[in-house]
Amino acid sequence: MRLPPHLSVRNGHLHIGAHDTVALARRYGTPLYVTDEERVRANYREYRDALQARYPRVKVLFAAKANGNPAILRALALEGAGADVFSAGELLLALRAGMAPGDLLFNGSSKSPSDLALAVEKGVRVSVDSLDELRQLDRAATEAGREVEIAFRVNPALEVPTHPKIATGLATSKFGIPHGQVPDAYRAALSCRSVVPTGIHCHIGSQILEVKPFAEAAAVMTRLAAAVTDLGVPLTFIDLGGGLGIPYHRTTDPAPTPGDYAAEVIPVFLQGVRDAGISPELWVEPGRYLVGDSTVLLARVNSVKEAHARFVNVDAGFNLLVRPVMYDAYHEIMVANRADSPAAQSSSIAGPICETGDLLARDRALPRVQAGDLIAVLDAGAYGFAMASQYNQRCRCPEVLVRGKEEALMRRGETLDDLLATAEEPPWQHRG
Ligand code: LLP
Repeated sequence: MRLPPHLSVRNGHLHIGAHDTVALARRYGTPLYVTDEERVRANYREYRDALQARYPRVKVLFAAKANGNPAILRALALEGAGADVFSAGELLLALRAGMAPGDLLFNGSSKSPSDLALAVEKGVRVSVDSLDELRQLDRAATEAGREVEIAFRVNPALEVPTHPKIATGLATSKFGIPHGQVPDAYRAALSCRSVVPTGIHCHIGSQILEVKPFAEAAAVMTRLAAAVTDLGVPLTFIDLGGGLGIPYHRTTDPAPTPGDYAAEVIPVFLQGVRDAGISPELWVEPGRYLVGDSTVLLARVNSVKEAHARFVNVDAGFNLLVRPVMYDAYHEIMVANRADSPAAQSSSIAGPICETGDLLARDRALPRVQAGDLIAVLDAGAYGFAMASQYNQRCRCPEVLVRGKEEALMRRGETLDDLLATAEEPPWQHRG
């Protein structure tokens, strides 16, 4: 298996950066998410540099939904990243992490009046998803006596090679304005009092392991940009969204790099903007690529059962990593404390949740495993903890960040008090 450079096997133990995962699990308990900050930063720099080498006016907005931990946002803010934010929470956390309002884009197909008011108040650009939302935003900005810059989220009607649940630019998708209606949307924006259209935005889908679809999106978007420019809209940015995948199947998946992406996309983009007679910034919104491979989820083996399959029962399930059950996603599994033992048995990794589907992996060739061993789920940094829940009244686990020789909690584990923190007792229940 090809391990990324921050993961290694030493003395039979999986290490992340300089840190022995077996020792971390002992110190912090399991389940445990562990992230290498330097890897996140390196991924960001790789992405930015690959694009800027071909077109300097590139802005990289981290898709904060992939990993909203404040320490991750902070690390990326320190590198100069902006963020694609999809909720008031993501917006406020990105600002708190030190990102500038001008480096954020507030996305989403269903924003509430308070979301729109917040964007106006904070001076954050909005990606508008419908004409209804446009009118509401214009009213909110007018009431606040401010102007707000917008892009429209375009539905480019593109088929992409990924799981249907994460293909977002299909004609049938809930996201974006059908591209035939885009000129009318900009006409409507031009007649608004307080909305100023300055950008155009799309996102075709996630976990895409080919770069061609992104070039197709660039062609569609620059063609639309030309049409919009002809209407008199001074476009200052074209945002092509995120979506570059990572090789979850570490032995077999292709591993397109930001360099491959840039080589395919930027020439199409440049040709398109030249044809349109404009020189806007190119914005991109990678989430998974920046954080996905930075993180392992460590889980302790509670028991092993020989049944229909060999079930290795661990203490993390879809409460902490929902991707396998939700998207049939594949994550590589290692036995962290026997990381150089040969594969001996086919095993399925089963979580502690009361659902048949609670499997983190099926039928994997693993070293012989017993209770007390430590399982590592690789590539868990994107949409991992971010999608965790308290199902079955399980506490969400701690997250540790390592950097060089240092290590620290970036989120403590929850306790029963946290599970109760938002609970209220309906008054009649006191009466028995
Ligand atoms: N921009 C927009 C507008 C998006 O909707 C998304 C992801 C991204 C950027 C970042 O995409 P990325 O570079 O991470 O592929 N929970 C699913 C993925 C859902 C992605 C939703 N939108 C998963 O675990 O695979």
